[in-house]
Amino acid sequence: MSGWNFQLEPAEIPKVETRYRRIATRLPVPESLEILHTLERCESAAMHGQMPIVWDKAQGFQVHDAWGNTWIDFTSTIFVANAGHANPRVVQALRDQLDKPLVHTYTYPTQIRADYLARLVEVSPPQFQKAFLLSAGTEATECALKLMRMHAWKTGKRRPGVVAFEGNWHGRTLGAQMLSYNPAQKEWIGYQDPNIHHIPFPYPWREEAMADPRAYFRSGMAALVEERRLDPDQDLCGFMLETFQGWGAVFYPREFVAEVVDFARSHGMLVAFDEMQAGFGRTGKLFGYMHYMVSPDLLCCGKGASSGLPLALVLGSREVMDLPEIGSMSSTHSANPLVCAAGLANLEALFEDGLIENSRILGEIFHARLHAIQTRFPDNIRYVLGQGLIAALLFYDAAGNPLSELCSNICQEAMRRGLLVVHTGRESIKLAPPLCINEAALLEGLEVLAESIEQVVHSGMAGA
Ligand SMILES: Cc1ncc(COP(=O)(O)O)c(C=O)c1O
Repeated sequence: MSGWNFQLEPAEIPKVETRYRRIATRLPVPESLEILHTLERCESAAMHGQMPIVWDKAQGFQVHDAWGNTWIDFTSTIFVANAGHANPRVVQALRDQLDKPLVHTYTYPTQIRADYLARLVEVSPPQFQKAFLLSAGTEATECALKLMRMHAWKTGKRRPGVVAFEGNWHGRTLGAQMLSYNPAQKEWIGYQDPNIHHIPFPYPWREEAMADPRAYFRSGMAALVEERRLDPDQDLCGFMLETFQGWGAVFYPREFVAEVVDFARSHGMLVAFDEMQAGFGRTGKLFGYMHYMVSPDLLCCGKGASSGLPLALVLGSREVMDLPEIGSMSSTHSANPLVCAAGLANLEALFEDGLIENSRILGEIFHARLHAIQTRFPDNIRYVLGQGLIAALLFYDAAGNPLSELCSNICQEAMRRGLLVVHTGRESIKLAPPLCINEAALLEGLEVLAESIEQVVHSGMAGA
């Protein structure tokens, strides 16, 4: 295969039958091709690129198709199903809501919305006094951008400059895309907001960033200030940080983030974290930024906030969250009763069923095993990154060239053996099992991953 084009010709593959996996047919399943072709014919190609399996059911940490195949899921549908697919608490809460019935209210008040927001604020650190509910993550990052700028005007700044980071990603709507780094993805816009700036990211392979993370931040900031002729007190109002850089689960050194926050505090700027992938227990803590021991002003969340319904949110102080005028920031599906029910049940599952703790404890076993796998493939796997139940393996050859096609082939091989991993289209493979996974299934999935790497690396399917 190459890039995003997985093989659509059904392949004969060895049968698999274990406690957690079952592969009983050719893949892709011949009977599923009609569905795949219908989607290809009727839907924008921009929606495609995933592996060609047609999901029929997903429960806990497993995904099933309609033809008897079962996969261990190491994707959580891209960091969404933190409490597990179709978590029983979430499903029951949705049933109760549907049975009432109360499905939509626009912004009329409801009991479930009050219950959810009260619980969300209660479990969040004390600086987060209010939340704003939305449907998509990209709305949440846009909302934080807007709030930081409204705060700038309120505090008398001259310009509403927001500083983001090289390589980070914040969504697909206009502001979110401008905050994101990827230049190719924003060519369609045709211009760049002159008050959105990017500074270098402290990648682990940048020696100077690792040697002195605080100095690395200061020099990136100094270069920006000089090049754009900025007065940070007057021209900058906020920082937007992706808690870890998505494609590779790349965290910042703690001192780097401490320096960002110190800078913000001394220049009247707000600090926002984009917790889309990192929030709700994924990293072994409620929120991923907590690993940095700082107190941000704004938090943008989505994905794992409900484990399956379109719920995103921003958390912040009363002062900042009440900056927009009454009625000026609502959205049609914000705070929908179904998503609030799911969000509340999701919090119950995370706290009462010990899923954050499970993420922390299993995360240690997970990362130890991944490092052991790395030692088996030292010529291919350069880094194992992440925390808790999020990890990325970064593949480079001996000369340092990224091995993205190798990664695509490993993803396909794992799928044929009954394991779903996150295909990034880059030189990384990301792993994010639902936080309800048990140790035996986790270890079985990791063994399948190691076998898949072995098969691809030693069969000449490697590619570059
Ligand atoms: C870090 C980050 N920010 C923002 C988004 C955008 O979220 P959504 O796709 O829900 O708009 C994503 C989605 O992948 C993300 O990973």
